[in-house]
Amino acid sequence: MAASKSGVLLRAEAAKAVNAVRSNGRSLDEALATAEQRVASADHPLLRHLCYETLRHHWQLRAQIAALLSKPLARRDALIEDLIAVGLAQLQHTRVAPHAAVSQTVEAVRLLRLPKFAGLVNAVLRRYQRETPVGEGDEAQCNHPLWLLQRLQADWPEQWPAIVAANNERAPMWLRLKPGPIDPETYAVGLDTPAGMTPGLDSALCLAEALPVDELPGFSAGTVSVQDGAAQLAAPWLLDGYGNGRILDACAAPGGKTAHLLELAGPNAVLTAIDSDAARLERVRETLDRTGGNATLVCADASKPEAWWDGVPFERILLDAPCSASGVIRRHPDIRLLRRDSDIEALAGRQLDMLSALWPLLAPGGRLLYVTCSVFAAENDVVVSKFLMGQADAQEEALLPNNNVRALMCRKVAGWQILPGTERLDGFYFACLTKASVTPE
Ligand SMILES: C[S@@+](CC[C@H](N)C(=O)[O-])C[C@H]1O[C@@H](n2cnc3c(N)ncnc32)[C@H](O)[C@@H]1O
Repeated sequence: MAASKSGVLLRAEAAKAVNAVRSNGRSLDEALATAEQRVASADHPLLRHLCYETLRHHWQLRAQIAALLSKPLARRDALIEDLIAVGLAQLQHTRVAPHAAVSQTVEAVRLLRLPKFAGLVNAVLRRYQRETPVGEGDEAQCNHPLWLLQRLQADWPEQWPAIVAANNERAPMWLRLKPGPIDPETYAVGLDTPAGMTPGLDSALCLAEALPVDELPGFSAGTVSVQDGAAQLAAPWLLDGYGNGRILDACAAPGGKTAHLLELAGPNAVLTAIDSDAARLERVRETLDRTGGNATLVCADASKPEAWWDGVPFERILLDAPCSASGVIRRHPDIRLLRRDSDIEALAGRQLDMLSALWPLLAPGGRLLYVTCSVFAAENDVVVSKFLMGQADAQEEALLPNNNVRALMCRKVAGWQILPGTERLDGFYFACLTKASVTPE
């Protein structure tokens, strides 16, 4: 059967995108943005799907490739190995017809200017169809690099198998409904897919199937936004008991929590949103244009307030700190390839620096919510405990945004952890800190 030109092109581009992540350390979002420029827009969903599935099953696919090749490919042939991985991912994790998956993947060698590998790619994919090796070893079985598995096992001795299983799933789509115009239950009735609510997450809906945002009623008008259910806890948690003081969102981009804070704090709230990445800060502006919120956006390093703070304290501070993102691996399967074990201590150091630098900006009696989308103690309760030990006017507040969320959380030495997969949520950590009204002697 003749392979379709566009089908061949998208396999070649999928292999290049996977290779850009694996060999050049690019994020999947960046690699896909490049690949999508070369592929017809009708093929973008399949291109994305192939890249996501290839990276999601990376360690298993590599073990299978090792079992299927009579001798390993040379390092310089990494792109061919990635093309084979794309082919195997299609055979195992997509609904693409096997004959099309094989023929179009084999043809892609020509577009990659590596025609001498056509026979090898064909032989490996056909051998897979006959023998279907599973891939041996812990990394292959769990689809995680060893360092990550070991960290999960050390931090979560009982829960790690469930975390690994959740990381290997596809992430569901969650929506956040603006308070007021329409309640989530009524909104759900008008959707083309079933949508469920979770006790304690009052504005959240979890969709059975993801929908394109332009098919979501009210999306362009800002009454509905896409945001994981766990991420939706930050704004009500921070704003509980809020008066009318200033709010700081210290690491704001792309602005999901900024928009939510403004929806809950009301039109008179004065909010400053900071991010050190100018391009990402632009996304906060786009988010607020759509949702109708108003904030002062500042491109700056949050850990150097002397460069941007006017000296007027904040009543509330959200520190959604840059982290390993180990709680959102199912949304970003490239994280497992891009992160290294040594990154974690470096991130923890930056997180403690940020927390310490922002604390003086909090008004007496004010609240700071420290949030990460990590599941590692080193970035979460260890950071917060160290901070609390050195800061006499700081204490953890025994407060949850509502009683129903207790069932979603694991209590840590300090703060609370939601593990990925709990009620289909992302993994998030929260610690709610208050500043003494009178500075202790
Ligand atoms: C976890 S994301 C924030 C997500 C955001 N709060 C939301 O809900 O959409 C962390 C953000 O911190 C920003 N960041 C990293 N280092 C920073 C720094 N030193 N100062 C300010 N922002 C920083 C990153 O650019 C990134 O956008």
